[in-house]
Amino acid sequence: MKEMASLSSIVVLLFFFNIHFIQGYYYDKGTVQTITKCPGYYCGRYQVPGDNETSLWSLCGPCPRGSRVNSTWACTECTSSPTAYDWMYLCFMVVIGLLAQWYSIDTMLPNSQFSWKTFGTHFSALIETCLSACITLLIHEPLGSLQLRSCTVKHLSDWYTILHNPNPNYEEVLHCAQEAVYPLYSIVFVHYGLSVFMLFFIRPWANKALQNRGHVASRPIYAALYLYPILALIHGIMAGLIYYAFPSIIILLSLMSHAFHFASRTDQSWRALLYETVSCIHNLVVVIGHWVLHGFGLVALTLWLQPELLAVILTLVPLPTFLYIVLSRFTDPGKFHTD
Ligand SMILES: *[C@@H]1O[C@H](CO)[C@@H](O)[C@H](O)[C@H]1NC(C)=O
Ligand SMILES: *[C@@H]1O[C@H](CO)[C@@H](O)[C@H](O)[C@H]1NC(C)=O
Repeated sequence: MKEMASLSSIVVLLFFFNIHFIQGYYYDKGTVQTITKCPGYYCGRYQVPGDNETSLWSLCGPCPRGSRVNSTWACTECTSSPTAYDWMYLCFMVVIGLLAQWYSIDTMLPNSQFSWKTFGTHFSALIETCLSACITLLIHEPLGSLQLRSCTVKHLSDWYTILHNPNPNYEEVLHCAQEAVYPLYSIVFVHYGLSVFMLFFIRPWANKALQNRGHVASRPIYAALYLYPILALIHGIMAGLIYYAFPSIIILLSLMSHAFHFASRTDQSWRALLYETVSCIHNLVVVIGHWVLHGFGLVALTLWLQPELLAVILTLVPLPTFLYIVLSRFTDPGKFHTD
């Protein structure tokens, strides 16, 4: 009984002790003379002019555009340049837009055979995309050069800062959402917007020169007007996931589209597959384009390997084509229904 009493008194004591010592998360809410900590991952302070020519540190909040909070809660300007992987990611976003356009042109124009008209439309889309990508780079820091200044991507959450607004002590939410991966997120929107602008600017002239009229001229334009907003929406929501997964995405998509391209041929014997691939320029371009995509995806996926290993891996690029051509006679559905 006595032990019980002492135990409960200890518990009660501990309880009060705790109540007494549980303190809220503390941080300086106003401006400060010397920098102090901020809650959350993305809240920081930047220098603001105080009175008497002193400079103060601002309240905890989002860093100005083009800067990011460092480990001591100061907003520091983004001065690193994008890594090879970052560049490949940007290329991927550009190439996806171009491929979506090319695909829509291919499916919408009546003749699937090679013709100068379809080639001209493809070429026009290529020029528009290249121009828009160059202008996008030129109007970003450093201005007027094809280089970029950026912040390094450290975590997946850098892409989704809006999900990381801290709410210290459940008092008020600090809205510290900002573009922590400046400018890798916004630059894609700029590029897509400019691409639509270029579409209106260049395509009518291309159509005039190629004498495309009616549906042939208008359908690819309408398709692009749907495609770019859809791509922008997907980028807006999934940018972080795409950033980490794009090598696998590009390999998967190009393998699927490669198989689809071969499967849509009427004659599936290996001689016909090989002959049609080599004799028809359209097919040849499609197959080589897929090889380029495979190579791009493989390089992005294995960027951390040594260059010699990379070269070995690149020899795998034409493998899917040869496998399809060699194995197609074993996969003909007719073989399973001979009885
Ligand atoms: C500003 O400086 C003047 C003289 O240098 C001083 O009298 C005044 O108290 C200072 N004000 C603040 C807010 O520090
Ligand atoms: C963070 O930025 C501030 C201001 O630019 C600088 O004084 C400080 O050394 C930086 N901290 C780290 C860990 O780099």
